[in-house]
Amino acid sequence: MEKMWAGRFEKASDRLADDFNSSIHFDKKLYKQDIKGSMEHAAMLCRSGILNIQELAKISDGLASILEDLESGALDFDENAEDIHMFVEAELTKRIGDTGKKLHTARSRNDQVALDLRLYMREETIEVVELLKKLTAATLSLAKKNTETIMPGYTHLQRAQPITFAHHLLAYCMMFLRDISRLVDALLRMNYSPLGSCALAGTTYNTDRDSVAAALGFDGIMMNSIDGVSDRDYCIELEAAFATVMMHLSRFSEEIILWSSWEFKFVELDDAYTTGSSIMPQKKNPDMAELVRGKCGRVYGDLMATLTMLKGLPLAYNKDMQEDKEAVFDSVETVKKCLTIFIPMLETMKPIPENMLAAAKRGFINATDLADYLTKKGIPFRTAYKIVGTIVGECVRSGRTLDEVPLEEYKAHSEVFDTDLYGEISLETCIRKRISRGSTGYESVKEQIAYVEAQL
Ligand code: ARG
Repeated sequence: MEKMWAGRFEKASDRLADDFNSSIHFDKKLYKQDIKGSMEHAAMLCRSGILNIQELAKISDGLASILEDLESGALDFDENAEDIHMFVEAELTKRIGDTGKKLHTARSRNDQVALDLRLYMREETIEVVELLKKLTAATLSLAKKNTETIMPGYTHLQRAQPITFAHHLLAYCMMFLRDISRLVDALLRMNYSPLGSCALAGTTYNTDRDSVAAALGFDGIMMNSIDGVSDRDYCIELEAAFATVMMHLSRFSEEIILWSSWEFKFVELDDAYTTGSSIMPQKKNPDMAELVRGKCGRVYGDLMATLTMLKGLPLAYNKDMQEDKEAVFDSVETVKKCLTIFIPMLETMKPIPENMLAAAKRGFINATDLADYLTKKGIPFRTAYKIVGTIVGECVRSGRTLDEVPLEEYKAHSEVFDTDLYGEISLETCIRKRISRGSTGYESVKEQIAYVEAQL
């Protein structure tokens, strides 16, 4: 195919160089946005008196037919085209003749690609937000069913204090709500149109950038044409937000993997979201959760690739920027895939409250409450902490739990111990007495559930 710029050149480009330069095999994803952007650009050219009404009709019909044929499969992408923008323009000219050559007036591929990618990522991000809402709702619904389910809360993966499963799940709801707000925030900041920036310096035609921006659903235009063609901040913001989503999913996955092991058995994953082993007949592996954890790394990599690609680029457009697309596409596709599998995996996961409770009963997770009991009877906290530590040490050596120690033995450590201590260190009391806002206490968890519901 003859190059668009053949006039300036004496030689055709090298075949390998062409392949290396070409981006159609990944930017063909942008075909819809490219065509939509071109239609609005052509309409503006007509409003501005640059195209006449017949020319606009020809261009619009031509573009519409290309869109239709691509969607039906009647037209294939030409893998020899340099990119999606060149492909659509060449196809248009093939279909409608010389009028097609007028479409690129007052436009450059630099503002065209900046527009297409923004439109594409806006749509994709809205889908991610919807998936995150679903995930938050699924997590919340599991929490609502487990407000009385007692489990050990951990620090250092050592049993620490009793909590409810609902409280633990609500922590994830808070993360997902922040993820949503990060993405919505990025959407607001990115929703300005670069179209009309042209190559970098704007144009000599009397165009109307604002009306095209409005027609394409933007809140306004990018105010500096050099920035318009060279800004990829929104890719970085979205990739960073996606990386954070993946980090949250990966932490949740890690817990689900631990919880579904025989060592914990706090939950049972549905058969549909686990796999067997090719050799060990007893195995039921949490592959989906492991893959989500594993895929987190590639989304971090996508962010790093984009940050590094942009670092040191002089203004305005440089071909390096063609590398933005594979990274940002991979990042959003990975997040969508992970969310799509994670939601039903969570919805079908069965908690096993007996095992959570059994684990909560061992490990002295009520020791803080016993120290608080002494403190409320007038013993300074550090002294109380030491007394309880000594008792726990004795229990570890004698293989007992705190509620198995008789009162006389307690009294030998401090006179203020009394029969009420047993009620105070029961796991239900430990939870009920957590009255601070945000705590694991029943009232506080109710407040958290209402908060998440209201946010959704
Ligand atoms: N395929 C190019 C990209 O993705 C489109 C812009 C090309 N602009 C240029 N001046 N060569 O960045």
